[in-house]
Amino acid sequence: MSIHQEQLTPAQQKNEQLVAARPYLIEQDWIAYTPEQHATWSELVRRCMPQLRQYACQEYLDGFQQIGLREDSIPDLAAVSSKLEPRTGWNSTPVSGYLPANAFFEMLAARRFPTTTTLRDRSSLDYTPEPDIFHDVFGHVPMHAHPVFADFLYEYGRVCSSMAGRTEDLTRMGRLFWFTVEFGVIRQDRRTKVYGSGLISSHGECSYVVERGPEIRDFNLDQVLEHEFFISKMQPVLYAVESFQQIYEAAQEAGRRLG
Ligand SMILES: [Fe+2]
Repeated sequence: MSIHQEQLTPAQQKNEQLVAARPYLIEQDWIAYTPEQHATWSELVRRCMPQLRQYACQEYLDGFQQIGLREDSIPDLAAVSSKLEPRTGWNSTPVSGYLPANAFFEMLAARRFPTTTTLRDRSSLDYTPEPDIFHDVFGHVPMHAHPVFADFLYEYGRVCSSMAGRTEDLTRMGRLFWFTVEFGVIRQDRRTKVYGSGLISSHGECSYVVERGPEIRDFNLDQVLEHEFFISKMQPVLYAVESFQQIYEAAQEAGRRLG
């Protein structure tokens, strides 16, 4: 260990090990958020939460409490990670925006979740084409407090990291991500509950699922890997798991087949 490394926190030391992702790592300037931005965060949370208390899986709601998210202010990522890391080893790590695939997978395989720090503005509460801190933290990070989901996401990153340059296989793995991490649903208490970040963080998408009812199929790895999806419209088909162990095993199985 160098003198330089001794001055770093354990989290910073781990970031130092990232290679492909290094150019995208930033600091979150939490003090710079304006009262208007905190108010926008608060409005976003208040729009989604009543529905989520009914339709989000219990693991999401528990995670929201465990990592200390609040309705009234934009989260401080260092504070979130200080609660998250002792539970599952995951860290919500600030990045400048979209990452290239190799950098994204490198971070997942290091239990670093690339987290944007900007927030959509008030005129686009329900949809933003760019990732933002509401989607990334409110939508994704509470699930990282659940040990099995946390291991699944790590495993997913590890498997994808080993597929560099294999476009077709990475496209298949992208579908697994889409139908689990982004748009996953789970059967609990004989009802369909949401856990995917795209459903959690979008009042409109979640309403569509609970009110209109897309086709809900039993999760099947073969089908998911071949199922093309469209980003810019409501999802006509979703895949329901019975437990998070199921997606952990699916990531392992995908690794055996494609890795
Ligand atoms: Fe996402």
